[in-house]
Amino acid sequence: MSFDYRDGVLCAEDVPLDELARRFGTPCYVYSRAAIESAYREFTSALAGRDALVCYSVKANSNLAVLALLARLGAGFDIVSGGELARVLAAGGEAAKTLFSGVGKSEAEIELALATGIGCINVESEAELERVARIARGRARRAPVALRVNPDIDARTHPYVSTGLRESKFGIAHAEAERLYLRASRMPELELAGIGCHIGSLLADAAPFVAAAERLVELVDRLEAAGVRLRHIDVGGGIGIRYKDETTQPIEAFVRGVLAALGKRRQRVVFDPGRSIVGPAGVLLTRVEYVKPGAARNFLVVDAAMNDLMRPPLYGAWHEVRTVREMEAGAPAEVYDVVGPVCESADFLARERRIAGREGDLLAILSAGAYGMVMSSNYNSRPRAAEVLVQGANAHLVRRRESVEELFAAEQIPG
Ligand code: LLP
Repeated sequence: MSFDYRDGVLCAEDVPLDELARRFGTPCYVYSRAAIESAYREFTSALAGRDALVCYSVKANSNLAVLALLARLGAGFDIVSGGELARVLAAGGEAAKTLFSGVGKSEAEIELALATGIGCINVESEAELERVARIARGRARRAPVALRVNPDIDARTHPYVSTGLRESKFGIAHAEAERLYLRASRMPELELAGIGCHIGSLLADAAPFVAAAERLVELVDRLEAAGVRLRHIDVGGGIGIRYKDETTQPIEAFVRGVLAALGKRRQRVVFDPGRSIVGPAGVLLTRVEYVKPGAARNFLVVDAAMNDLMRPPLYGAWHEVRTVREMEAGAPAEVYDVVGPVCESADFLARERRIAGREGDLLAILSAGAYGMVMSSNYNSRPRAAEVLVQGANAHLVRRRESVEELFAAEQIPG
């Protein structure tokens, strides 16, 4: 395991977290390189022998060091903005192995994507198809596109992260897809690269994921019969991880299900996972500022807040909290809400946890590697946390803590 107690201290690989707090301060995100690698390899080993590409979903954790690591392992990337494309390129990722998703791509983003030689634009509407074709018209190379099809399948996950239902803003209705493919096949500026879907995030069970892949395969067969040949089938991301006690199926079960759905078809299969690669690989390290007993609730006020980790207030998400010094059996523990300094009642990281916590103690908020730092903000003029990547006994600062001056460096007082 990447985060375990050794001699009573929680470590990231071989580095004790209290040492990292001393070196880099708190709050601080700490990532395990071995954990990222091993999750990536779960995909690639389950896909061994098959023409396949794992396109890491950059939005989950876009630190350049994380992207560079995955690029070196051979990953492609799933991006949703020009900013993410710039990060991928800056980290040494290949545009040709990058897919551009998202419902609202601007002209400038589409131009940038085509200029850098993007692997595929995942088109989400007829209007976007026309926009891509128009922008591609003046170019020597045709624009590679796929349609993101909405398979109308209930991912059975949190409504905020469910994307595959008919009422969702994402994708092109399944019933519309065939007509649009035929239309696209007559547009000379476009090259039909593939087909994609993504039904939602944090799926515990592979069944809806596989059902969506089956719907895509059906469509691929129909298109083929109509003379439209596609090179890849992108089954999306969304594979869940275990935050608490969920019984999440392993990556391998999702991959196996999809490969069975594909049968003997020869198209390349693409996955675009985010959370399952980086989620378990990160913790948010924070220090207890105050112990504040109350009439109705007891609080541990820590130096990390909702601006550092939005998931608990936004989704009611549960993250495990561990003391960095291992709690001794029978140590006096109280039930606490772990809260930050931000002036909002929604500013909590965890609720009603039994913790032996004293002022100055360090806590680790687990499974914070995905949708942690990337969703952080400067609310309450709080500089964003540092990020550290651990490899064995070495720790690298991969993003320094923001300074207060940087917070208002772009602002001006009119004269
Ligand atoms: N592909 C597409 C088109 C997506 O929209 C997403 C995530 C992914 C792949 C990667 O999904 P993953 O494997 O990470 O589940 N902020 C939320 C999660 C939002 C997910 C958005 N789309 C959270 O903190 O739970």
